[in-house]
Amino acid sequence: MTSLAGKRIVLGVSGGIAAYKAVEICRRLMDEGAHVIPVLTKGATRFVGRTTFDALASERVQMSLFDEDDPIPHTTLGQTADCVLVAPATARVIGAYAAGISSDLLTATLIATRAPVVVCPAMHTEMWEHPAVADNIATLVERGVHIVGPESGRLAGGDEGAGRLSSPADIVAAVSRVLDVGEKRSDMAGLSVVVTAGGTREPIDPVRYIGNHSSGKQGYAFAEEAAGRGASVTVVTTVDRPGPLGATVASGVTVVRVDTAEEMAAATADAAKEADVVIMAAAVADFRPVDPAGVKLKKRDGVPAIELEPTPDILASLGASKPEGQILIGFAAETCDVADNAAAKLNGKGADYIVANDVTAENAGFAHDTNEVLVLASDGRVHSVGLRSKRQVAQAVLDLVVADRDGRANVR
Ligand code: C5P
Repeated sequence: MTSLAGKRIVLGVSGGIAAYKAVEICRRLMDEGAHVIPVLTKGATRFVGRTTFDALASERVQMSLFDEDDPIPHTTLGQTADCVLVAPATARVIGAYAAGISSDLLTATLIATRAPVVVCPAMHTEMWEHPAVADNIATLVERGVHIVGPESGRLAGGDEGAGRLSSPADIVAAVSRVLDVGEKRSDMAGLSVVVTAGGTREPIDPVRYIGNHSSGKQGYAFAEEAAGRGASVTVVTTVDRPGPLGATVASGVTVVRVDTAEEMAAATADAAKEADVVIMAAAVADFRPVDPAGVKLKKRDGVPAIELEPTPDILASLGASKPEGQILIGFAAETCDVADNAAAKLNGKGADYIVANDVTAENAGFAHDTNEVLVLASDGRVHSVGLRSKRQVAQAVLDLVVADRDGRANVR
């Protein structure tokens, strides 16, 4: 395979024990036809010799901002790269990149480039879980940097935990995906998926409503991940696609705009009739004003007594009338006792999965670009998905759905 043929990839290697795995990554990138330019930090050379990369890569190792033939190597590297890959990325490199500090050729190149950047963290669990590192990762995700891993498993010194570099195969596959040259996953081809996204708005009067902080980002991430894997997707939503101005909805996604829980209930029930998978990521209001005013309420008339009534519980009614074989996923945005509240919802609503998150956790929940969730399945399995981009959370949950469908098909 030569899926990366002609692509110039700067392979940044920083100084962690996983640096030895960068040799394998370099070889795999070369096997895929890439033009690989290794950039090592000083720390990296404590773990792996530059001669190894010199022998394997397309160009010799570069390390210094000053003593190469090119007087401005970082801008040249940054401008000519199709992708900058950092594997392994240490806490130091991640921190410098997030803060915009360029203290060596690798960090200068990261800041100088406008090419897509893939960062593969690897470090001890304590470091990975430190709030400073978590914040830096969240900053990079918000800026569009692709984070791959880390995995959980054996670490240096015999410890176990999160922080292990992703496998060279996964890293090279991620680079191919980012450059849109990789094999497309099509494991949801032919499936019809309905996703709800955003917070509903329940009118008080023509200008005011009861709403919530849901941004719709997680719902759209599900829609785009499912569409990317071949599904035909309907998003029933209260918000336009969140993201940079002018962001367009991915192909394969049909958007149905609604405002209230009532409207969302009708549109979702309609779309869900024929759906294979229904993902209720919207934050639907539980209460609405019984009798919204026809004209704007005036301050001079005093504080209004607004009588509330329950909205239709869309998830529960979909659960009660679920067609055979349909997979129904509910969400639980909680502020305490996340696992217990989610388990109660799973039983009470007839869902196959509940995706639960603590909306008070750092960098997770409403409006953030990252999320961290527990996925409870109706057969008792519980999967924990650690802090990552909302797209990666969607990917992890849809992996479970696809495996579940395959399992059911095999039983039949
Ligand atoms: O019980 P709770 O409202 O917290 O459950 C959350 C889940 O139920 C979410 O998936 C949400 O989209 C859905 N929901 C609903 N209809 C409502 C309220 C919530 O479908 N009226």
